[in-house]
Amino acid sequence: MSTSAQIGVTGLAVMGRNLARNFARNGYTVAVHNRTVARTKALVEEFGGEGDFISAETAEEFVAALERPRRLVIMVKAGGPTDAVIEEFAPLLEPGDMIIDGGNAHFADTRRREKALREQGIHFVGMGVSGGEEGALHGPSIMPGGPKESYDSLGPMLEKISAKAAKDGAPCVTHVGPDGAGHFVKMVHNGIEYADMQLIGEAYQLLRDVAGYSPAEIADIFRTWNQGRLDSYLIEITAEVLSHVDAATGRPFVDVVVDQAEQKGTGRWTVQIALDLGVPVSGIAEAVFARSLSGHATLRAASRGLTGPEAAPLGKEEAAAFADQVEQALYASKIVSYTQGFHEITAGSEEYGWDIDLGKVASIWRGGCIIRAAFLDRIRAAYDTRADLPSLLSDETFAREIADAQDDWRDVVIAAVRQGVPTPGFSAALAYYDALRAERLPAALTQGQRDFFGAHTYRRVDREGAFHTLWGGDRSEVSA
Ligand code: 6PG
Repeated sequence: MSTSAQIGVTGLAVMGRNLARNFARNGYTVAVHNRTVARTKALVEEFGGEGDFISAETAEEFVAALERPRRLVIMVKAGGPTDAVIEEFAPLLEPGDMIIDGGNAHFADTRRREKALREQGIHFVGMGVSGGEEGALHGPSIMPGGPKESYDSLGPMLEKISAKAAKDGAPCVTHVGPDGAGHFVKMVHNGIEYADMQLIGEAYQLLRDVAGYSPAEIADIFRTWNQGRLDSYLIEITAEVLSHVDAATGRPFVDVVVDQAEQKGTGRWTVQIALDLGVPVSGIAEAVFARSLSGHATLRAASRGLTGPEAAPLGKEEAAAFADQVEQALYASKIVSYTQGFHEITAGSEEYGWDIDLGKVASIWRGGCIIRAAFLDRIRAAYDTRADLPSLLSDETFAREIADAQDDWRDVVIAAVRQGVPTPGFSAALAYYDALRAERLPAALTQGQRDFFGAHTYRRVDREGAFHTLWGGDRSEVSA
């Protein structure tokens, strides 16, 4: 048994335990520690045969087991618990050692922690880890931020345990950028995840309520879609969830689940930060609000009797054609959601000076993470071809695909509106697309209104400068 560990993991709930096992399975000696010692013992007893573990009962033992520079991964709840673990371990570390936070921390907390620890000579790495329990064990997508020199030492280990992209075997990990960059990108990953899941949910509801298909039939449709350009983890698992039958009742599983979606908060953060950055992530926002609305059971019950259109399910042939249209709408809306997510990463990178490489972000999302999808290969290629691409919609391939999809996309939104099926994601994505390409927007009227009631001034299309109209007087215009 080695007397020193190349990496240590403290916090051995499922994610931490599986990450520790992943390091051990890949040949590293792993020091393991948990506040509840029994959990540490259970890990080594159950999985000790998978590799070299050094079990530590105290913080001091844990630190002593680590080779220099020490690499200490904390896998505890974001917020206060993470601060508490840092406060416990930092005094035991020496300059050059590193603390790696693998939780879903808010990037602002990571920036604060990185600055405070840097002043003590300790490296702090905020590391997004995506892929859930299975990913942590078999290969997650990993989004480490923090000092570049930390990655020089930590990166090779993360590359070994990460998922590998199916197309070229590349490790799904990169040094995202300094301080909070890694947790920021993980946050946006989760925002896109919410949008993806909302769009899939809307496609399901349309196939159910408008096309009249059963969950099992819709599962088959998703399996077919998963063979094509929608090939992705979320589409794959949707087919599994929809084909599942509840053992207790024999009913489709999806019909026995309470239709109130919960959220731990990373999708919400994505929207809050986008509002601060002035980035329209309407698809992600609608996904967050759809989850919130679903949770207002009393409000929904009080609204149940509100009048809506008569349901008019389609005939068999029309239903099949409609399903093809829904695929087009889903794909086009998905492109918009990723476009918005990458826009937010660009804005965050500019705001915080992170110089994030969008092609690399797309590349490491090709495997291991929840939003892993074949079309991320195409997003990577788009950014590798043109790093300063203003928007994914400016990429000719994506622009062409959206052009080909838009008639069906519009038909689907029209059908949803006519049949009273809520599709905030599809509709927001289409509205975003139409707003982006519009020659003129009603924002001109907004500026006029703001100047009328608040003298907030406006700019003109034909002259430089800011102006105000004397609405209460002769309505002449003055330079502001
Ligand atoms: C991942 C997931 C994960 C997420 C949980 C719960 O990338 O592995 O995104 O980080 O936190 O799945 O997410 P919500 O409760 O916010 O849906």
